[in-house]
Amino acid sequence: MTIQFNDETFRDDYSFRNSEWAIKRFPFPFHEDSYMYSVNMEQHRGGPEGSVYEKRFDVDEHYVAEMRDRAMVLADDPLRCQSLPHMTLAGWDLLELIMVSKSEDYPDLFELYRDGNNWRWVNKPLGIDDSFVFLDETTLPYGPMEYITRQAQGDFCVLDQRDDNLWMDAGTVTTQADWSLDFDIGMNFFEWHAPVPLAHEKGIFVRALKFLLNIQQGAPARRLNWTMTVNPLLDTSPENYHKWGIQKTTITPENIGAKQHLRVELQTFFRLPRSNALVFPIRCYLCNFQDLMTVPKWGRRLHRVIRDLPEELATYKGFIDNRPMMLDYLSKFDDGQPTSDGI
Ligand code: HEM
Repeated sequence: MTIQFNDETFRDDYSFRNSEWAIKRFPFPFHEDSYMYSVNMEQHRGGPEGSVYEKRFDVDEHYVAEMRDRAMVLADDPLRCQSLPHMTLAGWDLLELIMVSKSEDYPDLFELYRDGNNWRWVNKPLGIDDSFVFLDETTLPYGPMEYITRQAQGDFCVLDQRDDNLWMDAGTVTTQADWSLDFDIGMNFFEWHAPVPLAHEKGIFVRALKFLLNIQQGAPARRLNWTMTVNPLLDTSPENYHKWGIQKTTITPENIGAKQHLRVELQTFFRLPRSNALVFPIRCYLCNFQDLMTVPKWGRRLHRVIRDLPEELATYKGFIDNRPMMLDYLSKFDDGQPTSDGI
């Protein structure tokens, strides 16, 4: 196999680590020295070799450990995976999209054999070799969406499209930045975005929805979003806030470089063929400050972005209290030089 999978955890002893390769390809999200919400969408047509944009569904060294963590979250709380009854067909669409993409993009890791509706799926990293009948739920151990999203990094929202809107009618959400599928299930695009500050009045969600409603099959799109997380936690859900919220108070000037993580979401959008649903994979990448600082222009830029971020955004993203300590740390890496050479 080409990828060396890490044996690591996203809880308890937090043994999660990024290799030099993972740091190098980390999707640093800032194109300039300041940040404000925008409709930052582009086509998802691949990207430079080795980058996180290259494949339709990026698989990296954290794959096996992330899937182990997802299984633990689902065992504790089955409501992290929900699919309203009319979304089963979309689940099959998603299963097909991921199996076809992964077997084509990573033939050394995944294999898919199809003879009519008789399919065989081989997932080597997870040791899975299952034969099943496509569109027959009784032949899989879980519903189609749950089956395949237990084998794919990142969260997945599956949106039904009707009445010129998108509806959160299915999903597997175990690695989210403080929002809840169980709370949002059945909501539409404006309803689930209601808590976001400053973006509604800028018309961002009206324009974003228009773009999404017109996404065509075979022409996926993508955008980046980001926030901050103390410790390499995947599951920062409201359901478990009592476990992780308190960890934000453990940051000190001595440990901030190792404990404070920039959390970047590579969000993609794919139209699904039979159901006309839209799938929204949200892939989370974590990198701690000390690893980010190994790239000098990231250090300079992160300092300026965090320093100048509007208070509403720092509050919404949950790091307003720790911002002064972050700035003390980051300022040491900002020598005042320009960062005009892009990311
Ligand atoms: C935040 C879902 C597409 C912009 C959020 C939240 C959810 C969500 C659940 C958290 C809200 C909360 O605090 O409870 C989705 C889904 C999408 C989608 C399912 C796909 C259909 C978009 C698009 C944009 C966008 C296309 C483009 C501008 C934002 C922004 C935030 C947000 C700016 C705040 C994020 C932050 O500051 O960390 N989204 N979203 N979303 N969404 Fe979306």
